[in-house]
Amino acid sequence: ITIIENPGAIDVLVNRTNNLPDTYVPEDLVKLTDVPTVLSNPEINQLRKSAYEALVELFSAAKNEAEYELFARSGYRSYNTQVSLYSSYVANHGQTAADTFSAKPGQSEHQTGLSMDITCEAMNFLLDDTFGQTDEGKWVAENAHRFGFIIRYPKGKEDITGYMYEPWHIRFLGIEMATEVFESGLTLEEYFEQ
Ligand code: DAL
Ligand code: ZN
Repeated sequence: ITIIENPGAIDVLVNRTNNLPDTYVPEDLVKLTDVPTVLSNPEINQLRKSAYEALVELFSAAKNEAEYELFARSGYRSYNTQVSLYSSYVANHGQTAADTFSAKPGQSEHQTGLSMDITCEAMNFLLDDTFGQTDEGKWVAENAHRFGFIIRYPKGKEDITGYMYEPWHIRFLGIEMATEVFESGLTLEEYFEQ
């Protein structure tokens, strides 16, 4: 495990081997005021400013171009929130199962404030892999890069990313890099290696 030295970089790579310092909190978190949200917890209804502004653009394009309404469910999570989440998943599902879908503390991209879990009414506002088959999920997969986001945990890449397919988890990288990653068809891990 390597502790990331520049956790505030927009292109930071966070995964099972590159971990955020447990004290890291982004400096420019903002509240989600202009997008529909699902949960009332104030912590997770935050993102870093640049990611939030891009999310507003993404959600309004979904509405204007396709009449799809997207909802934000879980954005920034502190190290301590991930501690509680991960331990409740381990208690409920066992560690082997928990490790397929939950990051350990320090290993979650949500701690960067650059990732958001999104959903829609057809999903009953939940998160599961059928989001990828909804019209909304398909639109997001095809268009998120235009606003600076990638689908961070694609299908079939579980061995590389370390996590199961998560069509709902989008990661902000800026338009240029997100478009390059999208067009390459690579995961973020592979993109940085090439
Ligand atoms: N579900 C993703 C991998 C996380 O826990 O950050
Ligand atoms: Zn997520």
